[in-house]
Amino acid sequence: MRNQSRIRIVVGAVALGLATTAFASPASIALSQAVKNGARIFNTDSFGSHEQSFHGRHTTCSSCHIDGGRIMGRLPNGKRIPSLINAAAIFPRYSPKLHKVITLETQIRHCVRNGLLGHPPAYGSQTMADLVSYLGSLAHGQRVMIGGKPR
Ligand code: HEC
Repeated sequence: MRNQSRIRIVVGAVALGLATTAFASPASIALSQAVKNGARIFNTDSFGSHEQSFHGRHTTCSSCHIDGGRIMGRLPNGKRIPSLINAAAIFPRYSPKLHKVITLETQIRHCVRNGLLGHPPAYGSQTMADLVSYLGSLAHGQRVMIGGKPR
Protein backbone atom coordinates (compact mmCIF):
# COMPACT_ATOMS: atom_id res chain seq x y z
CA MET A 1 0.00 0.00 0.00
CA ARG A 2 2.75 2.36 1.04
CA ASN A 3 4.81 1.40 -1.98
CA GLN A 4 1.86 2.04 -4.21
CA SER A 5 1.34 5.59 -2.98
CA ARG A 6 5.08 6.21 -3.23
CA ILE A 7 4.94 5.08 -6.86
CA ARG A 8 1.98 7.37 -7.40
CA ILE A 9 3.93 10.31 -6.04
CA VAL A 10 6.93 9.52 -8.23
CA VAL A 11 4.74 9.10 -11.32
CA GLY A 12 2.96 12.34 -10.46
CA ALA A 13 6.24 14.21 -10.04
CA VAL A 14 7.56 12.90 -13.36
CA ALA A 15 4.32 13.88 -15.12
CA LEU A 16 4.46 17.34 -13.59
CA GLY A 17 8.08 17.70 -14.67
CA LEU A 18 7.21 16.67 -18.22
CA ALA A 19 4.22 19.03 -18.29
CA THR A 20 6.35 21.93 -17.03
CA THR A 21 9.04 21.17 -19.60
CA ALA A 22 6.44 20.96 -22.38
CA PHE A 23 4.85 24.22 -21.25
CA ALA A 24 8.14 26.10 -21.33
CA SER A 25 9.42 24.54 -24.57
CA PRO A 26 10.56 26.83 -27.38
CA ALA A 27 7.55 25.66 -29.39
CA SER A 28 5.01 26.71 -26.77
CA ILE A 29 6.80 30.00 -26.11
CA ALA A 30 6.76 30.83 -29.84
CA LEU A 31 3.11 29.86 -30.08
CA SER A 32 1.97 31.96 -27.14
CA GLN A 33 4.02 34.86 -28.52
CA ALA A 34 2.22 34.49 -31.87
CA VAL A 35 -1.16 34.52 -30.08
CA LYS A 36 -0.14 37.63 -28.15
CA ASN A 37 1.10 39.40 -31.28
CA GLY A 38 -2.07 38.39 -33.11
CA ALA A 39 -4.21 39.93 -30.36
CA ARG A 40 -2.21 43.15 -30.56
CA ILE A 41 -2.53 43.29 -34.36
CA PHE A 42 -6.26 42.53 -34.10
CA ASN A 43 -6.82 45.38 -31.67
CA THR A 44 -4.42 48.03 -32.95
CA ASP A 45 -3.34 47.51 -36.58
CA SER A 46 -5.12 49.51 -39.26
CA PHE A 47 -3.18 47.86 -42.12
CA GLY A 48 -2.32 51.18 -43.71
CA SER A 49 -5.98 52.20 -43.91
CA HIS A 50 -6.57 55.95 -43.99
CA GLU A 51 -8.88 57.07 -41.22
CA GLN A 52 -10.99 59.30 -43.49
CA SER A 53 -11.80 56.34 -45.71
CA PHE A 54 -13.50 54.75 -42.73
CA HIS A 55 -15.08 57.82 -41.13
CA GLY A 56 -12.20 57.99 -38.69
CA ARG A 57 -13.62 55.21 -36.56
CA HIS A 58 -13.47 51.70 -37.94
CA THR A 59 -9.79 51.24 -38.32
CA THR A 60 -8.97 47.88 -36.68
CA CYS A 61 -10.44 44.39 -36.62
CA SER A 62 -11.92 45.14 -33.20
CA SER A 63 -13.88 48.10 -34.58
CA CYS A 64 -16.38 45.59 -36.00
CA HIS A 65 -15.41 42.44 -34.06
CA ILE A 66 -15.99 43.79 -30.55
CA ASP A 67 -14.01 42.70 -27.47
CA GLY A 68 -11.34 40.99 -29.55
CA GLY A 69 -14.03 38.99 -31.39
CA ARG A 70 -15.21 37.29 -28.19
CA ILE A 71 -18.73 38.69 -28.36
CA MET A 72 -21.21 39.54 -31.09
CA GLY A 73 -19.83 42.28 -33.35
CA ARG A 74 -21.39 45.38 -34.82
CA LEU A 75 -20.98 47.04 -38.23
CA PRO A 76 -20.84 50.81 -38.78
CA ASN A 77 -24.50 50.69 -39.86
CA GLY A 78 -25.47 49.03 -36.59
CA LYS A 79 -25.97 45.53 -38.04
CA ARG A 80 -24.99 42.75 -35.64
CA ILE A 81 -22.53 40.07 -36.76
CA PRO A 82 -21.55 36.79 -35.08
CA SER A 83 -18.57 36.56 -32.72
CA LEU A 84 -15.28 35.04 -33.89
CA ILE A 85 -15.25 32.57 -31.03
CA ASN A 86 -15.45 29.49 -33.26
CA ALA A 87 -14.22 30.95 -36.57
CA ALA A 88 -10.99 28.93 -36.54
CA ALA A 89 -13.01 25.75 -35.97
CA ILE A 90 -15.46 26.15 -38.87
CA PHE A 91 -13.22 27.21 -41.78
CA PRO A 92 -12.76 26.37 -44.63
CA ARG A 93 -16.21 27.19 -45.91
CA TYR A 94 -18.00 27.56 -49.22
CA SER A 95 -18.54 31.16 -50.23
CA PRO A 96 -21.68 31.54 -52.35
CA LYS A 97 -20.46 34.99 -53.41
CA LEU A 98 -17.08 33.77 -54.67
CA HIS A 99 -18.39 30.36 -55.81
CA LYS A 100 -15.49 28.60 -54.13
CA VAL A 101 -14.16 27.21 -50.88
CA ILE A 102 -12.30 29.82 -48.85
CA THR A 103 -9.86 29.46 -45.96
CA LEU A 104 -9.61 31.50 -42.77
CA GLU A 105 -6.67 33.36 -44.36
CA THR A 106 -8.78 34.34 -47.35
CA GLN A 107 -11.54 35.60 -45.01
CA ILE A 108 -9.00 37.68 -43.05
CA ARG A 109 -7.63 39.20 -46.26
CA HIS A 110 -11.20 39.93 -47.40
CA CYS A 111 -11.96 41.74 -44.11
CA VAL A 112 -8.78 43.82 -44.35
CA ARG A 113 -9.44 44.81 -47.96
CA ASN A 114 -13.18 45.41 -47.76
CA GLY A 115 -13.79 46.08 -44.07
CA LEU A 116 -10.72 48.05 -43.07
CA LEU A 117 -9.94 49.36 -46.57
CA GLY A 118 -6.33 48.44 -45.86
CA HIS A 119 -3.55 46.32 -47.36
CA PRO A 120 -4.13 42.63 -46.55
CA PRO A 121 -1.29 40.62 -44.99
CA ALA A 122 0.25 38.17 -47.47
CA TYR A 123 -0.52 34.46 -47.27
CA GLY A 124 2.29 32.85 -45.28
CA SER A 125 3.41 36.15 -43.70
CA GLN A 126 4.17 36.47 -39.99
CA THR A 127 1.24 38.85 -39.56
CA MET A 128 -1.09 36.26 -41.08
CA ALA A 129 0.37 33.51 -38.85
CA ASP A 130 -0.12 35.73 -35.78
CA LEU A 131 -3.75 36.54 -36.65
CA VAL A 132 -4.55 32.89 -37.36
CA SER A 133 -2.87 31.90 -34.07
CA TYR A 134 -4.95 34.46 -32.19
CA LEU A 135 -8.20 33.26 -33.80
CA GLY A 136 -7.13 29.68 -33.06
CA SER A 137 -6.69 30.56 -29.41
CA LEU A 138 -10.22 32.01 -29.28
CA ALA A 139 -11.59 28.73 -30.65
CA HIS A 140 -10.00 26.45 -28.04
CA GLY A 141 -12.49 23.73 -27.11
CA GLN A 142 -15.00 24.71 -29.82
CA ARG A 143 -16.45 21.96 -31.96
CA VAL A 144 -14.46 21.53 -35.17
CA MET A 145 -16.87 21.42 -38.11
CA ILE A 146 -15.86 22.72 -41.50
CA GLY A 147 -18.59 24.80 -43.06
CA GLY A 148 -20.25 25.13 -39.63
CA LYS A 149 -22.21 28.11 -38.35
CA PRO A 150 -20.44 31.03 -36.63
CA ARG A 151 -21.51 31.64 -33.03
C1 HEC B 1 -15.92 46.91 -41.29
C2 HEC B 1 -16.14 45.82 -40.39
C3 HEC B 1 -15.13 44.70 -40.30
C4 HEC B 1 -13.81 44.80 -40.00
C5 HEC B 1 -13.01 46.05 -39.73
C6 HEC B 1 -13.31 43.43 -39.97
N1 HEC B 1 -14.30 42.55 -40.25
FE1 HEC B 1 -14.18 40.53 -40.14
N2 HEC B 1 -16.14 40.38 -40.71
C7 HEC B 1 -16.97 41.45 -40.99
C8 HEC B 1 -18.23 40.93 -41.49
C9 HEC B 1 -19.42 41.78 -41.92
C10 HEC B 1 -18.13 39.54 -41.48
C11 HEC B 1 -19.20 38.51 -41.92
C12 HEC B 1 -20.09 38.23 -40.77
C13 HEC B 1 -21.22 37.37 -41.19
O1 HEC B 1 -21.04 36.13 -41.26
O2 HEC B 1 -22.30 37.92 -41.45
C14 HEC B 1 -16.80 39.22 -40.97
C15 HEC B 1 -16.34 37.94 -40.80
C16 HEC B 1 -15.10 37.61 -40.31
C17 HEC B 1 -14.63 36.27 -40.06
C18 HEC B 1 -15.45 34.99 -40.27
C19 HEC B 1 -16.25 34.72 -39.02
C20 HEC B 1 -17.09 33.47 -39.11
O3 HEC B 1 -17.01 32.63 -38.21
O4 HEC B 1 -17.85 33.36 -40.07
C21 HEC B 1 -13.35 36.36 -39.60
C22 HEC B 1 -12.43 35.21 -39.22
C23 HEC B 1 -13.02 37.77 -39.57
N3 HEC B 1 -14.10 38.50 -39.98
C24 HEC B 1 -11.81 38.27 -39.17
C25 HEC B 1 -11.46 39.61 -39.21
C26 HEC B 1 -10.14 40.11 -38.91
C27 HEC B 1 -8.96 39.25 -38.48
C28 HEC B 1 -10.19 41.45 -39.09
C29 HEC B 1 -9.02 42.43 -39.00
C30 HEC B 1 -7.88 42.12 -39.83
C31 HEC B 1 -11.54 41.81 -39.48
N4 HEC B 1 -12.28 40.66 -39.57
C32 HEC B 1 -11.99 43.10 -39.71
C33 HEC B 1 -16.68 42.77 -40.80
C34 HEC B 1 -15.44 43.28 -40.47
